[in-house]
Amino acid sequence: MSYRDTYAAWQSDPEGFWLDAARKIDWDRPPSRAFFDGGPAGEWFADGTLNACWNCVDRHVEAGRGDQLAIIHDSPITRSYRGITYAELRDRVASLAGALRAKGIEKGDRVIIYMPMVPEALEAMLACARLGAIHSVVFGGFAAHELAVRINDATPKAIIAASCGVEPGRIVHYKPLLDRAIDEATHKPDFCVILQREQEVAELTPGRDVAWHSFQYGVEPAECVPVEGNHPAYVLYTSGTTGQPKGVVRHTGGHMVALAWSMKNVYDIEAGDVFWAASDVGWVVGHSYICYGPLAVGATTIVFEGKPVGTPDAAAYWRVIQNHRVKSVFSAPTAIRAIRREDPDGTLIGDYNLRHFKTLYLAGERADPDTIQWAEEKLGVPVIDHWWQTETGWPIAANPVGIELLPVKHGSPSVALPGYDVQVLDEEGHPVPPGTLGAVAIKLPLPPGTLPTLWNAADRFTKSYLSHFPGYYETGDAGYIDEDGYLYIMARTDDVINVAGHRLSTGAMEEVLSAHPAVAECAVIGVADSLKGQMPLGFLCLKKGTNTPDTQVVKEVVGMVRDQIGPVAAFRTACVVDRLPKTRSGKILRATMVKIADGQPFNTPATIDDPAILDEIATALRAVGYPQHA
Ligand code: COA
Ligand code: AMP
Repeated sequence: MSYRDTYAAWQSDPEGFWLDAARKIDWDRPPSRAFFDGGPAGEWFADGTLNACWNCVDRHVEAGRGDQLAIIHDSPITRSYRGITYAELRDRVASLAGALRAKGIEKGDRVIIYMPMVPEALEAMLACARLGAIHSVVFGGFAAHELAVRINDATPKAIIAASCGVEPGRIVHYKPLLDRAIDEATHKPDFCVILQREQEVAELTPGRDVAWHSFQYGVEPAECVPVEGNHPAYVLYTSGTTGQPKGVVRHTGGHMVALAWSMKNVYDIEAGDVFWAASDVGWVVGHSYICYGPLAVGATTIVFEGKPVGTPDAAAYWRVIQNHRVKSVFSAPTAIRAIRREDPDGTLIGDYNLRHFKTLYLAGERADPDTIQWAEEKLGVPVIDHWWQTETGWPIAANPVGIELLPVKHGSPSVALPGYDVQVLDEEGHPVPPGTLGAVAIKLPLPPGTLPTLWNAADRFTKSYLSHFPGYYETGDAGYIDEDGYLYIMARTDDVINVAGHRLSTGAMEEVLSAHPAVAECAVIGVADSLKGQMPLGFLCLKKGTNTPDTQVVKEVVGMVRDQIGPVAAFRTACVVDRLPKTRSGKILRATMVKIADGQPFNTPATIDDPAILDEIATALRAVGYPQHA
C-alpha cells in the first residue's frame, strides 16, 4: 500500500487502523476499542491489559530469538564493548525487577533513573515496566538542582543511578550529584540502587543505598505484571517556558502500538535488523528508539557511549555502523555538522564497509539542507529528516520509508504520518493556505503513544497545549505546508531553544540569572550557531551601585547555570547592558534581539519604548562576537 492509501485508510477508519496496528502487540486482555473518552484529551486502548517488558523482551525469547543480541553496548569512551542476548536480557531484567519488588516497588510506584549510556539504564527501564512501576529517566547532563526538581514532582520510591558517567576528558560524578539532589529535594526516596562503574566507585550511603549486584543476590525473579492500556509507562520531563519542567506522561498501550507501527513503517526495521539511535536514554529519542521501539519488534539496539567526534575521531559513527552491521541510524543534524567540520570531504567514510547501511534519519532540530546534502553525497543513502517532540513520543511527520520512499525535499521533514492531522493556523485559529507561515497544530485527538496529560498537572496540559486553538494540540512550532502536502518546520513560537538537539528553556536560565545578587533584570535568547543550531546568550542589567566588575558577574552567572541546570545548557556568553529593549507595556523584545544577534534584517517594533536601546544591544553583541559572520 502506498503512503497516500495508508494515510487515507487511517482517515476513513481510525479505530480500525489502530486496532489493526494493536495486533502486533501481545495483550493479556485485548482492548475492545481503540479510542476512549477520558482524561483531558482522550486515551487509547484503555480497557486492554499488557506488559511492555513482555512485549520488548520475553516474547522474543518465546519466539526463538533468545540467542539474538538485544543490546550492543559500544563505548569508545571507556574502550569497551558488550553484547546482551534477548535470553540474557530477560534474566537480567527479571532479576532486577525481583530485587526492586523485594524492596517494595509495586505497580504505579515511581522510580527515577539517572544513568549514563550503559545497558543497565535500559534494564532499569524495563525492570520498572515489568512491575508496572513508572520510571522517570533524568538526563545525565542535568545538574543536581534539576534532578531535585524532578524528585519533588515525581515523588519516587526509589532512584536507580550509576556511580559515574564518562564524558570526554572528565568523569561525571553522578553519586555526589545524586546526594546533593536528595539533600535539596523535599521528597526523599526510600532507597537508591547504585551501579558501581570501574571508572569511579562511589561511597554508598548506609541505610539508603544498595549496590546494583548485591541487592539482587538470592531474590526471586519477577514475572511481568499486566497493566491497563492507559497505565503510565513513564514520565519524562521536558523544558517548557518556566523553570518547572513539564512531566510528559506516556500510557503503556498506545506507547507499544505506536512504536511497533513506526519501527516498521517509518524506520523499515523488523525482527533481526540492527537499529542505532545515537541519542541518550535521557531524551525521548532514547526512550522510544534506543529502548522500547527496537526491542518491541525484536530488533537489536545499540547503546553508544561516545560522541560523533573526538571518541576518538570523526569516524566513530562509520565504525559502529560497519562493526555491528547497522541498517539504519537515527541522529541529530548537529552530530553530522560536527563530523563534517572535522572531515569535510568525508574521507574517513571510505575506510569503512557500510554495505548494510540503508538509511540515515535526522531529528531533534531543523535539518539544514546543506547538512542533508553533504550526508547524502558522502554516504550514498537516503537522509530522512523527520519531526516530532517529547510530547508525541514518535514522529509526527516523516518520509515513511517502510511504506514507500517519497521524493525527498530538503528542508522538509516530509509528510504527516497516519494518526496526525497536521494543520497550519493563523492567530485566530483558521487554517492558512499552502505556503503561508503559521502555528503548526494537530487536530484532536492525538494518535496512540502521544501524551494524554502532564504528570500532576492536567490543568497545565490543557493550558499549554489545548486552549490556544480549541480542538487542536498546539505544537509550539511555526511552519508551513507546501502545495504537495510537505511540511516545513521553521522555528519555535515560545521561549524554548534547541541547543545541539537538546531542548532547553530560556525562561529556566533567566530564573537562574536573576538569582545572582548583582542582577536587576535579565533576558536569555537563542542565537544561531553553525554547529549546535542555537546557543543561549544572556543579557544582564546590574543593580545600581554594584561594585563587582562586569566580567566577574558574567563568570559567576555562567557558573550558576552550569551548576543549577547543567553543562548541557551550554550557557557560556552573557553581556552586561544598561537596559533591555521593551514594549511600552514592559514586554522584553527578545525576538528583535535574536534578529540583531543573527545579523538578520528587522523592523523596529512600533511599540518599542525607546528605539535607541537597540543600538546599545547591537554594540554589546558585537563585543561578544555576534553576529557570528559579521
Ligand atoms: N552527562 C554529563 N554531561 C554531559 C552529558 C551527559 N550525558 N552529555 C553532555 N554533557 C556535557 C558535555 O560534556 C559538555 O560539557 P562541557 O561544557 O564540560 O564540555 C556539555 O554537556 C555540552 O554537551 P554537548 O551538547 O554534547 O556538546 P559538546 O560540545 O560536548 O559536543 C556535539 C557537541 C555536536 C558533538 C554533541 O552535541 C552531540 O553529539 N550532539 C548530538 C546531539 C544528540 O544526539 N541529541 C539528541 C537529540 S535527538
Ligand atoms: P524535543 O521535545 O526535545 O524532541 O524537541 C522538540 C522540538 O525540537 C520540536 O518542537 C521542534 O521545535 C524541534 N524539532 C525536532 N525535530 C525537528 C525537525 N526535524 N525539524 C525542525 N525542528 C525539529
